[in-house]
Amino acid sequence: MALKNDRFLKACRREPVDRTPVWFMRQAGRYQAEYRALRERYTLLEICRRPELCARVTALPVRQLGVDAAILFSDIMVPLGPMGIDYELKENVGPVIANPIRSLEDVEALRPLEPEAELPYVFDTIRLLVQELDVPLIGFAGGPFTLASYVIEGRPTRTFVETKSLMYRAPDVWHALMERLTDGVVRHLRAQAAAGAHALQVFDSWVGALEVRDYQQYVLPYMRRLFAETADLGVPRIHFGVGAGHLLPWMREAGGEVIGVDWRVPLADAWERVGDGVAVQGNLDPVLLLAPDHVLKARVEEILDSVRGRRGHIFNLGHGVLPATDPDKLKRVVEWVHQRGGDTR
Ligand code: CP3
Repeated sequence: MALKNDRFLKACRREPVDRTPVWFMRQAGRYQAEYRALRERYTLLEICRRPELCARVTALPVRQLGVDAAILFSDIMVPLGPMGIDYELKENVGPVIANPIRSLEDVEALRPLEPEAELPYVFDTIRLLVQELDVPLIGFAGGPFTLASYVIEGRPTRTFVETKSLMYRAPDVWHALMERLTDGVVRHLRAQAAAGAHALQVFDSWVGALEVRDYQQYVLPYMRRLFAETADLGVPRIHFGVGAGHLLPWMREAGGEVIGVDWRVPLADAWERVGDGVAVQGNLDPVLLLAPDHVLKARVEEILDSVRGRRGHIFNLGHGVLPATDPDKLKRVVEWVHQRGGDTR
């Protein structure tokens, strides 16, 4: 199906665009009254398991906000269920796991993911969406480190004490777990592209918790493999981390046509760190959406001006939309980006 609006894909390939493309991480979520109403009746995973409903939730922000891409409504935990990880998504907490993985026996009990057989609703949703959307659809997966942190800690953490101490204390268990998670992520990403996803984002959200040498030793080999084993798909891959400014050159080395950056590093500096050969996505602090319009608009324009004239900027937040966000603010940001951004005018 021909896309009416492909400026997001053009920017991923660093081709000229008429307007800077914009979309928002967590553009479907609790800041929307419609989403909150649906969540009274269904859990998040129930929405994911009903393709028509899930497609509706995915498409809603595209129509409401005028963004240039859709992101599949799902969660990074979804592929872990069939691999043998018993998780729950606890409201206002995040993923919680009944049987955290801490030993080699735990790792060896994990099963290889068979995405189409075990998660048919994910791919049915993608097939529905590519029929009906006129903007590209982004599929996604968590990065192996980020998934490992939930699987080892059993719940969200600020310190990553269990994750890092397992890494240092039992590198054999760590590497075995990272191998299994990388296999699962590669299969899940490949199946999403096969179902029609136009681009893929790897959310290595928590990898910024590592110092450079630990990233190089414990994570980089898996990220390199992940990108090598999805390169033939021919769809742009966005490689995203939070608080990972110090890791940008190595994330770039691992792979991805687009590097996603949070707000902690000025976007032009981040681009210097990754070099010219990739596109860049970001990087407005989501809290600025709670600021008065004149403050917000100045920051949006500052970001656009800082990278003006460079091909391959995709406007986004530095992390997900916060539940307290007014949808009208997001709509205005889309308008401002479309008014001022673009490199052929
Ligand atoms: O619109 C979109 O961005 C697509 C949907 C999406 C969700 N999760 C739905 C969701 C995406 C891309 C994710 C990825 C995800 N999930 C990440 C990586 C991105 C990031 O935020 O760094 C992570 C770390 C998770 C794990 C997770 N799931 C967390 C930390 C939470 C928040 C817990 C809370 O209640 O605040 C979830 C639950 C979750 N996944 C929500 C949504 C919209 C929250 C709303 C709800 O419970 O209905």
